[in-house]
Amino acid sequence: MSTPATSPSASTTPKPYEPATPAMAATSTAIVGLQWGDEGKGKIVNLLTDRHDAIVRYNGGANAGHSVVVKGERFALHLIPSGIMHADKPAVVGPGVVIDPEWLLKEVAGLRKRGVGCENLVISDHAHVVMPWHKLEDELREAFLSANSVEPIGTTRRGIGPCYADKAQRSTAIRIADLLRPEVLSQKLATIVPFKNAVLAAIARPGSTFVPYDHRTLLEQFAALGEQLRPFVTGASKLLLDMAHSGKSILFEGANATLLDVDHGTYPYVTSSTCSALGAPAGAGVPFTCVRSILGVMKAYSTRVGGGVMPTELINSDADRAIADGIRQRGREFGTTTGRPRRVGWLDLVAVRYSARLNGVHGLCLMLLDVLAGVDTLMVADRYEVDGSPTNTFVPDAHWLAGARPIYRSFPGFSADITAARSLRELPTQARTYMEFIEQTIGVPIRFVSVGPDRAQTIEC
Ligand code: GDP
Ligand code: IMO
Ligand code: MG
Repeated sequence: MSTPATSPSASTTPKPYEPATPAMAATSTAIVGLQWGDEGKGKIVNLLTDRHDAIVRYNGGANAGHSVVVKGERFALHLIPSGIMHADKPAVVGPGVVIDPEWLLKEVAGLRKRGVGCENLVISDHAHVVMPWHKLEDELREAFLSANSVEPIGTTRRGIGPCYADKAQRSTAIRIADLLRPEVLSQKLATIVPFKNAVLAAIARPGSTFVPYDHRTLLEQFAALGEQLRPFVTGASKLLLDMAHSGKSILFEGANATLLDVDHGTYPYVTSSTCSALGAPAGAGVPFTCVRSILGVMKAYSTRVGGGVMPTELINSDADRAIADGIRQRGREFGTTTGRPRRVGWLDLVAVRYSARLNGVHGLCLMLLDVLAGVDTLMVADRYEVDGSPTNTFVPDAHWLAGARPIYRSFPGFSADITAARSLRELPTQARTYMEFIEQTIGVPIRFVSVGPDRAQTIEC
């Protein structure tokens, strides 16, 4: 008997996968920074909260500083989502965030004093707690690098890295839920406190006297903080998941930025979370099919705070430093969180194109365009020279980046004050040419142009 030939038949040919109608129908949006932070995410998030049903911070901690200016009044938010002023929308601090409870409560009190009630604030019980030893370890590690002639990360000293490290360690981590159950908190502290005391005594600076942490004192302090947080800790995970599955639209507020992403940024000069849009579903606790639209926020130039290479930094001559100083003053380029002067450089489109591709952004928000008024010639890097050859590839690695030399194109600048412009037609031709080059190089349209800090100073394209 002959065996039948095994030619592909209609029933065995694999069919292309046809996805079912997406369960998440709404227009949920993720807002992410495409550079090294401080791109103006807070302003865009505040602006777009109106168009969503809820807002969620999914990563980072009090290392973030998001400014919102409404009718001339400036708010600086660190842990609380930038949409908190919209009292009818839940403003969620998601499970992917690391929370310093004292800092959070201080922020709530500060907002309440200014008439923002924070009744819509929701805190995930799964978020991790930044403990005092995290901040101390953050400081000690930075000091250790300096003492050993290694460029420090330049952290915000908010304990972010050590807290995320403990989250991954598990046995030395504390979650918000633990603060609400004193017996659980007590049990955890019973093992964590001696462990941290031993480690910190060993790594404390020579000559400094490390004062060991005391179990009882911490238990009292953190159980009391837990009580103050209790009204806000109301099932964030269920709330977001229910909203996602019932077609409600969620606004995901990225903190820090893509080039600071722990996996995809300029490692090791990065922060410790997934700040790109890739971290949004995980850090909020919703399916990734829920994130329907991604907006990348970028400055019209570059800034960076802390250590690490910045290829287009304006630092190599007096003339460069004068341009940087002008931009720094006009753009108020001093950290919202630490007050540190930000390093300033020309727009680096090799880096931004990489970030836009990694995030898969649908649209760009071009911020602080007004700050460039008065700069005679605008330089933009659209390629690097690496090992003698030009490339538009960006490798997210500090060592590789140290060998990259920017190749610039120049554009005529504009001198007019554009802060009152409310349509593209009102922008000088030079500004529009600059914008067109950005769109062409990145291959993504600009959706918002920002010409001043106030939410009204925005052009929607
Ligand atoms: P974020 O961390 O991305 O939210 O950004 P930050 O709030 O830390 O830094 C952005 C700074 O620029 C803040 O001081 C904003 O108020 C300000 N800002 C935002 N957009 C504009 C703009 O278009 N023009 C000017 N001049 N300032 C802006
Ligand atoms: P927003 O959300 C600018 C930088 C720090 C440092 C590095 C690691 O306001 O854009 P960390 O304290 O996180 O361990 O510091 O990351 N950094 C930021 N720089 N804006 C931020 O947030 C930042 N968050 C962290 O300066 O170089
Ligand atoms: Mg900031």
